[in-house]
Amino acid sequence: MNLGSDIQQAIDCLINAKLVAIPTETVYGLAANAFDVNAVAKIFSVKNRPQFNPLIIHSNSLQRFEKWGIAITDKAKKLAEKFSPGPLTYVLPKSQIIPDLVTAGHQSVAIRIPKHPLTQQLLSKIDFPLAAPSANPSGYVSPTTAQHVAQQLKQKVCYILDGGPCKVGIESTILSLVDTTPVLLRYGSITVEEMEAELNQKIDVSKVVNNDNPLAPGMLGKHYATKTPLIIGHNIDFKVDDLNKIAAIRLKNYLPQIPQQNQILLSPEGSLETAAANLYTAMRNLDDMQFDLIIAEPMPSKGLGIAINDRLKRAAAKD
Ligand code: TXA
Ligand code: MG
Repeated sequence: MNLGSDIQQAIDCLINAKLVAIPTETVYGLAANAFDVNAVAKIFSVKNRPQFNPLIIHSNSLQRFEKWGIAITDKAKKLAEKFSPGPLTYVLPKSQIIPDLVTAGHQSVAIRIPKHPLTQQLLSKIDFPLAAPSANPSGYVSPTTAQHVAQQLKQKVCYILDGGPCKVGIESTILSLVDTTPVLLRYGSITVEEMEAELNQKIDVSKVVNNDNPLAPGMLGKHYATKTPLIIGHNIDFKVDDLNKIAAIRLKNYLPQIPQQNQILLSPEGSLETAAANLYTAMRNLDDMQFDLIIAEPMPSKGLGIAINDRLKRAAAKD
């Protein structure tokens, strides 16, 4: 049985250059020893991830990243006081010890201190950081339960550390602190306004769209995607032959035109936090039910709603 909550089993896999799926508060990660290029190479092959897409490294304190030669800027320290451990990733100048494979040849490295207690314990017991992308085949919806990981990657990982469902449910906010002006690279549950308030400085949000492919902008627009075509809309305002073949992801109320069993409400109370936590499970469940189309309701464009809409737009992108 390679699924459970045995931290020692996870450690044994990692020190033998094998992959372990780890729970975090955002999504499950597919982790390897970041200092071992053979182990990191397995991440790219198991996910079928292009090697130009760099990985985030995870540890349990800023001091440890500093020990590994990464200069933590004052801005990073300021943000970390408020948001780390938590769903915020900092991009900073890379140090020598971080392999080029991890950063895809970039001179910067993405670092994160995740909040999940099991993974924090794991990180405290190893003397290397964990490189970990989301534990899904490249391009597909990220996993928010150990079962999601098992469905797609059980045979390909040494161990799945089961920490229950992820509380946040969408990937971390990514902020680059390489230049004087902080640059947002990915929307997440830590909002731009919250970070600006902490930094007392404006954040540049103009570069977000092409984050998934820093070298060739636009190529990886489609991401977090179901196999079933997904469109964004408040209503069915187009001609449909068979309404039974249409599914819907809604915030708090059902669309009247299609059967209720084809629809998932993300949060009957209208909470965006709950909606984010339920989003990927809803996408995966409907994707397994062989509909012709999923119509996803856009969230109010504020706070966490911006990050949810970002994921929906990428899932709906043509390629
Ligand atoms: O919540 C999360 O961040 C999850 C959990 C497992 O920590 N991880 C995650 O990793 O979402 P991944 O690989 O699915 O997404 C990482 C993103 C990619 O879009 C990658 O291009 C970007 O981070 N990234 C990593 N290193 C970077 C760097 N040096 N410069 C710019 N972008 C970077
Ligand atoms: Mg991912």
